[in-house]
Amino acid sequence: MKNLKKFLAILISTLLVLGMAGCSSPTDTNQPEPVEETPAETPAEEQTGMKPGKYTAAFRGYKSDVKVETEVDSEKIISVKVLEHKETDGIGTHAVERLPKIIVDSQSVKVDTISGATTTSYAIINGVKDALKQAGADMKKFELVPPAPTPKDVTLDTDVVVIGGGAAGLSAALEARRNGAEVIVVEKMDITGGNTIRSSGAFNVAGHKLQIEANKGRKDIEEFIEFTMTGGHNMNDPALVRYMIENSAGIVDWVTELGFTPEIGETYQSFTVPGYAPGLIIGLQKFFEEMGGKVMLSTKATEIIMKDGAAAGIIAEGADGGKVTINAGAVVIATGGYGANLEWIAELDPSLKGFVTNNHPGATGDGIVMAQAVGAAVRDLNEIQTHPTVHVPTATMMTEGCRNAGGILVNTSGKRFTNEVNYRDIVSEAILSQDQGFAYLIINQEIVDSNGNIQGYYDIGVLQKFDTIADLAKFMNVEESVLQETMDKWNKAVAEKNDPEFNSQFTWIRNLSKGPWYSVAVSPGIHHTMGGIVINTNTEVISTDGKVIPGLFACGEVTGGVHGGNRVGGNAILDCLVFGKTAGEKSAAYIK
Ligand code: FUM
Repeated sequence: MKNLKKFLAILISTLLVLGMAGCSSPTDTNQPEPVEETPAETPAEEQTGMKPGKYTAAFRGYKSDVKVETEVDSEKIISVKVLEHKETDGIGTHAVERLPKIIVDSQSVKVDTISGATTTSYAIINGVKDALKQAGADMKKFELVPPAPTPKDVTLDTDVVVIGGGAAGLSAALEARRNGAEVIVVEKMDITGGNTIRSSGAFNVAGHKLQIEANKGRKDIEEFIEFTMTGGHNMNDPALVRYMIENSAGIVDWVTELGFTPEIGETYQSFTVPGYAPGLIIGLQKFFEEMGGKVMLSTKATEIIMKDGAAAGIIAEGADGGKVTINAGAVVIATGGYGANLEWIAELDPSLKGFVTNNHPGATGDGIVMAQAVGAAVRDLNEIQTHPTVHVPTATMMTEGCRNAGGILVNTSGKRFTNEVNYRDIVSEAILSQDQGFAYLIINQEIVDSNGNIQGYYDIGVLQKFDTIADLAKFMNVEESVLQETMDKWNKAVAEKNDPEFNSQFTWIRNLSKGPWYSVAVSPGIHHTMGGIVINTNTEVISTDGKVIPGLFACGEVTGGVHGGNRVGGNAILDCLVFGKTAGEKSAAYIK
């Protein structure tokens, strides 16, 4: 029944989006038309017959048009330059920086996309294809698949090897380096960032002096521990929760010491750094590399090397397909969760079959498999969280910052139906229980302006804008008078700081009386996997017989126990930063 509802929700949301004027989807735009791959040995003709010059073309990327200039002479591509774009820092920008050179070097538009930045990659590739067509090229000559590199086996030695370049892995790597260790990070994707780079970038903190001074946030450590335990259905490991929250204020000081300027969120207990999640990832990687740390992209760890019962390095597949052996004094697993492994998710929790995921494609659970192969214990694998407000057709998460800032959820009858800022599992269930299993998120301009992440949803065409309630009601296919009454009731609740209907725990900072208004159809999507490797507060990995596995550490979403049966919003990045920093310290201390 739940699956049927879900199917209907997805179908309806899809139809709604297809009907939206001017809507562009980050996943369905600019996919190149299928072109038959020409084998490399196909004989090339003598002349391309191109008209020399510079040609420009713009194709839609993820957030913006990507304008590309391609210069050709009569035979070849001389240069490719991205002239204009507003793609996401730390994601699309990797394609902007790397792909032009790859195209020029290979003289081909049949190059691999940058994994994790696929949509921007296609925009650039299509821009070059268009330019070549303008120049009158014989396209067959530029559609040769570049020859694969010759695989080379390499062996490296280091103190600490970190598997995974997301927030947890980079924090661990940076802290190990700060503690004097030689460190290598291997990341299987072409870009760093993991799930963090797709997140809103907020991390919860209790009891920091800035919060106390500003009289903002959930200041009390005990209150926040209880909130986290209750949110996790008390299935969390209490020691891990206490450790994380007691160290949360210190994490603000740590990121400040690193060179970030953390800021307190307006309504919640969370902090962000400038540039949100991309800013955090770019900064962590930059600080690490500036200290001499090494990041190996497109390098997929496959095995943990054990010697005399202790972790002693890893085996990986290198970017060229060769075998990479890294001998290390300690191994940190920070590979993230398995939220993109939809097959595994459906096996673990069949009620989630058919749900979309907002995870990055690399979140497939490899670290858990590698750890189990060397005897690590795992827990709570079937505890999988949906985020309540996902735009299903594009799998875009609409941050709960929208609701924390004053947004509401309205059903297909034009009425509110829940406390919008409740725990995620409760809000998800409330949405799925509505007619057709979806709801409309409604926010206004003031909310959009309050958070740069939210503006981004409009830029990618997911949020729709309306100047009047009548237009909004038309979009939602509800009676204008009913919607107006819903809005009036909500605005009154905000004025009175009391929501008799649903007992909202919103902090009443703004109402929705002023337009323009924005809306999007949302339904739950896979967001976080709470299960994973068992660790202690030193981030040491625990074996199935309850003992520490020497030299093996784990941190971030790959671990289990921190979040119990349901993660509290804003606790994931805190988890990555606190346990990542700890894994760095402890692994560096271990090798000494
Ligand atoms: O809704 C969000 O911004 C998600 C935050 C989180 O997963 O912690």
